[in-house]
Amino acid sequence: YKRVTTKSLIEMKANGEKISMLTAYDYTMAKIVDTAGIDVILVGDSASNVMAGHETTLPITLDQMIYHASSVVRATQRALVVVDLPFGSYQSDPKEALRSSIRIMKESGGHAVKMEGGSEIKDSIKKILHAGIPVMGHLGLTPQSIYKFGTYTVRAKENAEAEKLIEDAKMLERIGCFAVVLEKIPAQLAQKVAESISIPVIGIGAGGGVDGQVLVIHDMLGMNNEFNPRFLRRYMNLFEGMTTAISQYVTDVKSKDFPNETEQY
Ligand code: KIV
Ligand code: NA
Repeated sequence: YKRVTTKSLIEMKANGEKISMLTAYDYTMAKIVDTAGIDVILVGDSASNVMAGHETTLPITLDQMIYHASSVVRATQRALVVVDLPFGSYQSDPKEALRSSIRIMKESGGHAVKMEGGSEIKDSIKKILHAGIPVMGHLGLTPQSIYKFGTYTVRAKENAEAEKLIEDAKMLERIGCFAVVLEKIPAQLAQKVAESISIPVIGIGAGGGVDGQVLVIHDMLGMNNEFNPRFLRRYMNLFEGMTTAISQYVTDVKSKDFPNETEQY
């Protein structure tokens, strides 16, 4: 396989080819996602929710992100692996942000980092980029700021927030980010951003007018019954499928159907 690079993503946008991205947090899942031909695997801090069962993304640590990311990197041959900088690992100052990014690159083997925010973290992003580490931006509904927002509803519906988002996206392009995620904002605004910058805009709940799409793998496979936002398309109902399989196993063990004559030595 020829590895997807930050450069090839920018070329994909230039050629009008949409970019596919999904999360993964462990070796087995990442192997499946990579084999299926995904362009980008995001080791998201959504691991805090789907892997660890926390209510928000805030509790996950840098060490835990590095553990997830190194498992994913070992599984992939083709996808570009982007790793979220977790809450608390980059907000204090640019030096801390660089130190955290270097740890991710050295200890996990990931290919790029992603961080939430615009003008507030500009100096940190610049410092990381100067060290040769590619940065993906993330604007709109940035879950690490959930306690500031107070709600998971659509962001940037009002002019002031929309204008800042556009300015932030342009700034991220100007200082050298290779892509930006836009989460849960009006489709029209997302399209406008995608049309006004030349780096790829990857959307989640941001409509079809952007350059690529990202979903959380557990959500799109239907492993999670309780999360039902409008933007989520479920490609399987694995919760039901797996529950049925597991309860059948329980039944077979109890009834002594499993193991049978051929399933033993
Ligand atoms: O952590 C994550 O899964 C993300 C995506 C939703 C963009 O940041
Ligand atoms: Na994230």
